[in-house]
Amino acid sequence: MSKTVVIAFANNKGGSGKTTTCSNVACAMAAMGKKVLMIDGDMQLNLTLSYFDEEKALEFSESGKNLYEAVKNEKDLSDFIVETGYKGLDLVPSTSLMSSIEFDLFTKWQREFIFKKCLEPVRARGYYDYILIDAPPTLGGWVMNLMCASDYILIPVEASPWGLFGLANLFEFYHKVKTLAPALKVMGIAVTKADERKKYFKQTLEILSDLKDAKLFNTYIRVDSAIEWSQDNSKPVVAYRKTSRSAIEYTKLTKEILAYGNR
Ligand SMILES: Nc1ncnc2c1ncn2[C@@H]1O[C@H](COP(=O)(O)OP(=O)(O)O)[C@@H](O)[C@H]1O
Ligand SMILES: [Mg+2]
Repeated sequence: MSKTVVIAFANNKGGSGKTTTCSNVACAMAAMGKKVLMIDGDMQLNLTLSYFDEEKALEFSESGKNLYEAVKNEKDLSDFIVETGYKGLDLVPSTSLMSSIEFDLFTKWQREFIFKKCLEPVRARGYYDYILIDAPPTLGGWVMNLMCASDYILIPVEASPWGLFGLANLFEFYHKVKTLAPALKVMGIAVTKADERKKYFKQTLEILSDLKDAKLFNTYIRVDSAIEWSQDNSKPVVAYRKTSRSAIEYTKLTKEILAYGNR
């Protein structure tokens, strides 16, 4: 039986490309025949909105078909999964109610492992090859929950002068989480929004390749307006415009991620 691999896309810096990377890697994996579940862990619902319009997102929120309802009530996540319309690709939607999740977790017994318990039945069934989690840009109890339930973290980093800001805090946090979840590993850093003409892009790559805590994926994602157009149409770019350069790059990055286990 194949084992489900759980990857959290995390970086405490907002705008680093977490959601874009999570939604596109998930869609590319599904297009390559994998069974993939995405989990929108952010109260801003950006991953949910990468696949559904606002009206539909509101419906998930009001009908209780969302992550908040599952975690707050410590329920099996299986009952909160929705189909995206793409073959082999499902989602647990978020809701703006997630803004109070830290507070809701606070009084719970073994509060770092609530999400892990919700996810366990989905994992145990072994239906999905990959579960990809889009984390919010914070380093608190909720992200700790997401990491404790994951096998790997994948860190998208924006190739900008401020892109590296806070990375040290993220690694410090990761080492703290490892005391609770010793098997957790950093799969790698994926550079996003790269502009090869800019001097700091090369500089960013050099700094990141020197890090001892994580390896850099060979594929980086360049700045591409097709990404914004795709998001405007509630579609990942790998489905919206397959021939765009970011779609091609995200497909390459996905192959690197799939190959990771074979290394
Ligand atoms: N390669 C890219 N080219 C152009 N815009 C991008 C690219 N990647 C992400 N963006 C844009 O940057 C913003 C932040 O990306 P997002 O994935 O939402 O980051 P995060 O989830 O880390 O906050 C979004 O508006 C998105 O459309
Ligand atoms: Mg996001």
